[in-house]
Amino acid sequence: MTDSTIPTAQLGAHGPAVGVQGLGCMGMSFAYGPTDAEASRATLERALELGITLYDTADAYGQGENEKFLSPFFKAHRDEVVIATKFALAIPPDDPTRRIIRNDPPYIRQAVEASLKRLDVDAIDLYYMHRRDVNVPIEESVGTMAELVREGKVKHLGLSEVTATELRAAQDIHPIAAVQSEWSLFSRDIEAQVVPAARELGVALVPYSPLGRGFLTGSFTNADKDLTADDFRRQQPRFTGDNAAANAALLEPVRTVAEAHGVSLGQIALAWVQQQTTVHDLPVIPIPGTRKPGRVEENAAATGIELTKEELELLEPIAGQVAGDRYADMRFSSAGRE
Ligand SMILES: NC(=O)c1ccc[n+]([C@@H]2O[C@H](COP(=O)([O-])OP(=O)(O)OC[C@H]3O[C@@H](n4cnc5c(N)ncnc54)[C@H](OP(=O)(O)O)[C@@H]3O)[C@@H](O)[C@H]2O)c1
Repeated sequence: MTDSTIPTAQLGAHGPAVGVQGLGCMGMSFAYGPTDAEASRATLERALELGITLYDTADAYGQGENEKFLSPFFKAHRDEVVIATKFALAIPPDDPTRRIIRNDPPYIRQAVEASLKRLDVDAIDLYYMHRRDVNVPIEESVGTMAELVREGKVKHLGLSEVTATELRAAQDIHPIAAVQSEWSLFSRDIEAQVVPAARELGVALVPYSPLGRGFLTGSFTNADKDLTADDFRRQQPRFTGDNAAANAALLEPVRTVAEAHGVSLGQIALAWVQQQTTVHDLPVIPIPGTRKPGRVEENAAATGIELTKEELELLEPIAGQVAGDRYADMRFSSAGRE
């Protein structure tokens, strides 16, 4: 790819303009097997050269390690980058292997201070509630997030894995810039209610795992056989056993379209997500995750691919045929809460 930069999109009605594709940084410290700090740093720099300005992390990624890892890059480019981080996935004191969801005001206040410290910045550009704790009224949690904006600790608010009803309730309290939820050729639940609500409210959509956690690139076909023992994807029902074999077969139409364009499977998966912006008439800013400079170039180049109506039709049935849930523990999905 040449050094021309990718187009921009607005991060919600009042948010900043960002590159129309962001960068997911989770894998640089967490979840997806061995990491290489030098390659990750080169990926961050290359992304910025390509016009990628939205960088996604969370306090839960490596228990703060990912925020700390990104801090020098953010400091070196503070005026060029939009920093997104998240709170809500807490470790219970009695069992460090578990995660609980916390949205209570004291927890949010403690979490934001810890993130600001690790990132070593004065303010977080986009602060997401990572998961919704249904035991805390949304007025209390989003009300606290709104206080953080008034106090200058946070610039814009986001929500991850929420229902349309929760989004509307939150928007009544404070403008929401972005909803971050899983959206890809394999995961299209949000199109029924969340996407129309976001369009109506002027909220941008930030699809996470737009490459189906890498499965849509064809780079692995069975998590048990192809990935290391500590890789989170070995716990995900779609990528193991019979489900993985059935889901790998679903990539055939992606391969057909990729061959027609002379591009990779992953680029077609990303082009499909990027094109949802015209299909649904709202800003869509996916955050594919990679730790390799060559891959960030490949992914950014997908912003220039346009799929025909016939190609979209060929890809249409895939999501309905996917075997297995998105998560082994469905507490981490908004599905079923609407
Ligand atoms: N809000 C939430 O609950 C939530 C949940 C999950 C993720 N996220 C965020 O969303 C971001 C993206 O999601 P994700 O990382 O889960 O999944 P993803 O972007 O769908 O896929 C990432 C995987 O694809 C591989 N990959 C990337 N580009 C590739 C290419 N061109 N060719 C082949 N393989 C490629 C990556 O490997 P390499 O890194 O080795 O290149 C990585 O294993 C995360 O980094 C995180 O910031 C948020």
